[in-house]
Amino acid sequence: MQVLVTGGLGYIGSHTSVLLLEKGYDLVIVDDLSNSNEKVIENISQITSKVPVFEKIDLKDKESVSKLFNNYDFDGIIHFAAHKSVNESVNYPDKYFKNNVGSLENIIYEIQKLKKPMNFIFSSSCTVYGQADSMPINEGFELKKAESPYGQSKRKCEEILENFHKAGHNFKNITLRYFNPIGAHPTSLIGELPIGIPENLVPYITQTAVGKRDHLTVFGNDYDTNDGTCVRDYIHIMDLAEVHITCLEKLMNIKDNSFFNVYNVGTGKGTSVLELINLFENVNQLKLNYKIGKRRDGDVVIAYADTSKIKNELNWTTKYSLENALKTAWNWELNINKNE
Ligand code: UD1
Repeated sequence: MQVLVTGGLGYIGSHTSVLLLEKGYDLVIVDDLSNSNEKVIENISQITSKVPVFEKIDLKDKESVSKLFNNYDFDGIIHFAAHKSVNESVNYPDKYFKNNVGSLENIIYEIQKLKKPMNFIFSSSCTVYGQADSMPINEGFELKKAESPYGQSKRKCEEILENFHKAGHNFKNITLRYFNPIGAHPTSLIGELPIGIPENLVPYITQTAVGKRDHLTVFGNDYDTNDGTCVRDYIHIMDLAEVHITCLEKLMNIKDNSFFNVYNVGTGKGTSVLELINLFENVNQLKLNYKIGKRRDGDVVIAYADTSKIKNELNWTTKYSLENALKTAWNWELNINKNE
């Protein structure tokens, strides 16, 4: 079975590629290297003892996408490739729509020319829910206006997929709304590789602990939560990678050629920023230099998933602990620091 993994050298893409290779899938990894490093291929190969095909392609370019589909005969596609910086998207909204929406449109255009039903998994985000009115968030919740162009681009992509499905094309789709992925592969050979100053909490924590940043700022401690800091649903990257295998197998085995579904992917458990910091300190036996600062614009207060749909329908649950995620995140940081 040949699977196209777009954005396969990125954080979620690389971990998923490892599991796919270990499961025996033939991979074609496509990445434009705009937010990743070609060396990741070597590390994927070191973990799996397999060498996936790699194509450096800009998916915004219609002709390149067309060539890609002419050169291969994919049985499945996992579409990770997207820009993901909320901050950057506010300053360069156009870049986000062109890339995140444009790439999907080019891929869809090729899929509709195919004679067989395509198995397609799309990476969405819990950001599409905005600040939900109650917790936990289930897939039936109304989607709120996204705070950022990044969030809007993800919503737009979801709409495109839904319309494509409604139009009755030969197309099986699962859209996954990820909560907050953290942690790294147990070998410390792959992990999150933020370029520049990290926006997300865990890479900021590990970079502070290792001395790359002076201190972490906790964005607000006056929210209406147990300890005043925001609450998120942090999911281990290995669990998140695994859910793609479950979904791909589901799509490949299902007879219904117009299967279409959306699932939350989280742990179902909310953790505050301070709880996460304390756990990081305990698990890794160190002290983190952090200060309480102002709220960050656009932050939702609380977001954690209702995971019953994916559990009931796909029999999938998380296996890894938050402690393990924070341990592997730290080991990964130590490993990249050693090599720098
Ligand atoms: C962010 C994005 C979300 C995206 C997700 C991808 C925003 C508003 N949302 O989610 O759209 O899908 O990343 O992973 O950026 N925090 C600090 N100090 C820091 C960094 C973060 O206190 O230096 C806090 C934040 O206020 C938040 C929590 O840590 O409460 C998690 O932040 P982050 O990792 O950026 O994730 P999200 O905000 O949930």
